[in-house]
Amino acid sequence: MLVSAKEMLTKAKAGKYAVGQFNINNLEWTKAILLTAQECNSPVILGVSEGAGKYMCGFNTVAGMVNGMLKTLNITVPVALHLDHGSYDAALQAMEDGFSSVMFDGSHYGIEENIEKTKEIIRIANEKGISVEAEIADLGVTMLAAGIGNIHGVYPENWQGLNFEVLAKIQEKTGTMPLVLHGGTGIPAEMVKKAITLGVSKVNVNTECQLAFAAAVRKYIEDGKDQQGKGFDPRKLLAPGVEAIKETVKEKMELFGSVGKA
Ligand code: 13P
Repeated sequence: MLVSAKEMLTKAKAGKYAVGQFNINNLEWTKAILLTAQECNSPVILGVSEGAGKYMCGFNTVAGMVNGMLKTLNITVPVALHLDHGSYDAALQAMEDGFSSVMFDGSHYGIEENIEKTKEIIRIANEKGISVEAEIADLGVTMLAAGIGNIHGVYPENWQGLNFEVLAKIQEKTGTMPLVLHGGTGIPAEMVKKAITLGVSKVNVNTECQLAFAAAVRKYIEDGKDQQGKGFDPRKLLAPGVEAIKETVKEKMELFGSVGKA
């Protein structure tokens, strides 16, 4: 059964480790991440962007697929299904369709409208036991996305690194609230560890799994393996990509300290 991210993140904050949010794109991604979480006995958050949700035929299809896998694969570790960077309408839809956690990204609204919409999402989420991530700390959100020089995708060469001074100040003001580090791809391990000591309890990773998947499948094709026997069978063709996702997720869970914490 899917759970909200609240309990797993509260435990992570108290235990000074972080839970990984790994974004999913399709069945292969979802299965790879769930199996790795189970193998590592780690809690996990499956992130779904609006675009990926559309690609996978809507949030109801995604929730159906994830719930089906939890049952068939006997997944017993805590799993949250989380809307990543949701608009107001998408957050309402995801809650309706069975997601157990949502991020409302209202940063493009004026502050008053952002507050009003965040409050309404929290009201509905509370009724359903759903966790809420937002960029405004008060109002009763479960977790706060912290902007500390982190960006999505691969970091440019001249990136200045995470701003730990700002992170320390945010942590001081927000106390026990779990903080979220977006843009987990390519942040040096030592910086990730330091961010966790300063209150980060959820780290989002997307691009790194995509790069690992693409490189592994490219190698399979460049080695001509799709031309040998039934190597063109999608189950064979995509298998190296799936293994690469599993390795990446395991590495991150070890780095975040969530292994054995289910
Ligand atoms: P990356 O793609 O940089 O790993 O970021 C993921 C993320 O923050 C999703 O919200």
